[in-house]
Amino acid sequence: MYQYPDGNVFYRKLDGNLPLCVRGEGIYLYDQEGNKYIDGTGGPLCVTIGHGISEIAEAAKAQAEQIAYVHGSQFTTLAIEEFTKKLAKVLPSGIDKIYPVGSGSEANETALKLARQYQLSLGNSQRYKVIGRWFSYHGSTLGSLSMMGKVSFRKPYLPLLLDFPHIPAPYCYRCPFEKTYPQCKILCARFLEKTIELEGPETISAFIAEPIIGSTLGAVVPPKEYYRIIREICDKYNILFIADEVMSGYGRTGKWFAIDHWEVVPDIITMGKGISGGYVPLAAMAVKKEIVDVIKEKSENFVHGYTFSHHPVSSAVGLAVLNYMEKHDLVEKSAARGKYLYEKLEELKEEFFFIGDVRGKGLMIGIEFVKDKDSKIPFPRKFVLKEKIQKKSFEKGLYIYSTTTGMVDGINGDGIIIAPPYIIQEQEIDKIVDILKEVFLEIEKGL
Ligand SMILES: Cc1ncc(COP(=O)(O)O)c(C=O)c1O
Repeated sequence: MYQYPDGNVFYRKLDGNLPLCVRGEGIYLYDQEGNKYIDGTGGPLCVTIGHGISEIAEAAKAQAEQIAYVHGSQFTTLAIEEFTKKLAKVLPSGIDKIYPVGSGSEANETALKLARQYQLSLGNSQRYKVIGRWFSYHGSTLGSLSMMGKVSFRKPYLPLLLDFPHIPAPYCYRCPFEKTYPQCKILCARFLEKTIELEGPETISAFIAEPIIGSTLGAVVPPKEYYRIIREICDKYNILFIADEVMSGYGRTGKWFAIDHWEVVPDIITMGKGISGGYVPLAAMAVKKEIVDVIKEKSENFVHGYTFSHHPVSSAVGLAVLNYMEKHDLVEKSAARGKYLYEKLEELKEEFFFIGDVRGKGLMIGIEFVKDKDSKIPFPRKFVLKEKIQKKSFEKGLYIYSTTTGMVDGINGDGIIIAPPYIIQEQEIDKIVDILKEVFLEIEKGL
């Protein structure tokens, strides 16, 4: 494999053994040696509209030539006004104030601080804790890491984290209460109320959840009653409900936002990844106007900000992506292609004893692997199954995303996510499924 000689990059993988990507077009990536890969997940589900789209590049160029930067506290720009106006139209009704930032972690950090300041403005000075869920991912900054429930990512930094509570994830395939739906009475949602009572409602500012759980569990979809119950509990205790849609939002699940599947409106939605289709670092926190009004009335200003929030060039790209998605009906395509992909993967599940579960919505589909379908026992970690599947797929020209390690018990558990750009055609989905089948056959032989 070609390697850049004597590079100075501090790589995300310290073994640094990465192919040099030189071009992207549609759903395909090309490396220095001319190898072609299907981008089966756009990294961690960033690529929605496909690579190499000239309208997006032209929008960035035009904005950079006109005005590349102004500070968000000194000027507004047409780019940000038009982008947020269009975005507000696809957000759930009532969520209409948008704070653009540079990453999903920044969006969640913004939500955490906004929830705190809102409670302060209401005179609830003790309310600062955000309740999260175990097996969740909310980002890399210390605030988002405090809300997150992915144990191995928290461990090295535990002394630096805020002591926020967590409730069990709504992971029906492995119910944390060892119950079965619907006899469970959705205990996983009701547990929020127990936790609020235990911690003291006067200490809680917000609850955060990924509506469809992404990287840690591989596209886990909670039961249909789940978010209605969560909404009721949040309302009862005057706690803000933050939907972290950084991965599941922006058409990925076949609706603009995953929470739309439950017809529940949260107070805050954070989004990222697909918001720019991967073209620039862009994310956002969106919130109900009435919440911003409380802060405005009582505190005057939101004590928060980034140099590169409200960025004109990023906003111009955001607007161009929204226009492109609308012009090509990409949310509808995500729903339709997702259904096709799901059915094909369900067929694979029947063929291979080690495919325990296929789940998800739209083009956000997870596969969980097990050593035994009945007992759902995972493969031991030392078998590195998900890494083997990822590597073999890559060698056959398919890039896919694996779940983070330890989805079953913090150590063991293997999953992958298939989440191609929404422009994918059915025959290209067939190709993905063919490659996966080849990989699974090789894995089966090696067992
Ligand atoms: C659900 C969720 N929230 C937040 C983040 C953090 O986003 P970023 O990596 O852009 O900071 C991610 C990233 O994977 C995510 O999946």
